[in-house]
Amino acid sequence: MTAVERHSPCPPEEIDRMAPCGTTLRLAELSLLHDVARAINEGREISAILGEAADRLAALIDANNCFVLLLDRTSGELRAVAASRGHPREELDAVRLRPGESISTVAVREGRPIVVPDAHADPRVNQDWRERLSQTSLLAVPMLHRGLAVGCLTFDDTRRRREFSQAEIDRVLAVASQLAAAVENARLHQDLEESYAELETAQARLDQRERLAALGELAAAVAHEVRNPLGAIFNATGELSRIVEGRGEAGVLLSILAEEADRINRIIGDLLDFARPPDLAVDQVPLAATIQDAAAASTGQSSVSFTLSIEPGLDRIRMDRRQIRQALINVFNNAAQAMSRRGEIRVAVRRAGEGRVAIEIADNGPGVPPALRERIFEPFFTTKASGTGLGLAVVKRVVEGHGGSVEVRDGAPGAVFVLNLPFGGEP
Ligand SMILES: Nc1ncnc2c1ncn2[C@@H]1O[C@H](COP(=O)(O)OP(=O)(O)OP(=O)(O)O)[C@@H](O)[C@H]1O
Ligand SMILES: [Mg+2]
Repeated sequence: MTAVERHSPCPPEEIDRMAPCGTTLRLAELSLLHDVARAINEGREISAILGEAADRLAALIDANNCFVLLLDRTSGELRAVAASRGHPREELDAVRLRPGESISTVAVREGRPIVVPDAHADPRVNQDWRERLSQTSLLAVPMLHRGLAVGCLTFDDTRRRREFSQAEIDRVLAVASQLAAAVENARLHQDLEESYAELETAQARLDQRERLAALGELAAAVAHEVRNPLGAIFNATGELSRIVEGRGEAGVLLSILAEEADRINRIIGDLLDFARPPDLAVDQVPLAATIQDAAAASTGQSSVSFTLSIEPGLDRIRMDRRQIRQALINVFNNAAQAMSRRGEIRVAVRRAGEGRVAIEIADNGPGVPPALRERIFEPFFTTKASGTGLGLAVVKRVVEGHGGSVEVRDGAPGAVFVLNLPFGGEP
């Protein structure tokens, strides 16, 4: 038997009252214990197990209501997760008891059952709930697992003042410890699942890094091999153009040759950008100047207008200037291309929550169709005849390398690319 705090000792007639139906009650208790154990073994959902147990426990000790409250170990709060019949989810969600706010929290703190025969006379009873449920008598039994409280089973009687007998309390205690074990198992299971998910993400990131490192080496080797003959082609086409002076068919063919050689050169440049190891050279960088510089580099010769608004206090942030400039150029290039090189690019820089800055780049082109929004950040995804599809993949790499994220939104009209970066800029 567990020590129980009582305001008056359990009267012997109470025990006597139980005696005639003792066998039936014992059977009901055993059947409940058995069912709880089976439900746990079958891996049934914990909230369903708790709801059913609450219902049957209330019947077993002839209480009006039974609430299952679980302890949040971080905040120390008790939260209702299940109850006997007649208590909708919304009602349960509202039950949050901070330490010292009810007899349930006292039972959890002291690790023993508490009986309150007269709810009006005991200042530890939560007044709000007493009024709401018209509680007259209460019983709170902690759910203990290996000596630690996991939560509490709280019963009330709304019809009359009553004691809860030691036999009744023992019945609840037996089921409470089973339920505590089930809750603890469910928590362990959830923790394990979360750890697996984290491990998978970490593994994926590692794989990606390895792939990129390998790609980086390959790209550097290819770039070296291809750029030498490419240089020779550039020289030869330049020389030939001078000889034919751009005349006739030879002139046309030569300009095609020069254009395509230029394209190969760009593709190699993009590939090198994408595959470059993500080491950051972080420094305090003037943000407005970096954005303007990138805009000039990408929209310089087109009739795209450019506006920049920047919230005060955000003019210097820590980042890798070269990489962020490259990312911005890629986004600006896309915007200019989407607007057929005429239109408006609007950049707004604002705070985005604690320690973060958002760079929003809006254009008034046709926007990105919702079906493509996920895919456009994939390497080599392009809808353009002469695109490599590496522009946004580089943006994503750079931004994530800074510990940030990038997304595209509907600008109605146009597209809005949002680069969300940590204020410190460090990964
Ligand atoms: N501002 C934009 N408006 C509409 N569509 C866009 C915009 N920016 C990107 N896209 C879409 O996303 C795709 C991928 O862009 P990304 O910059 O990665 O590659 P790309 O521009 O096609 O080629 P490149 O490697 O030369 O940049 C584009 O082909 C285009 O369909
Ligand atoms: Mg692009």
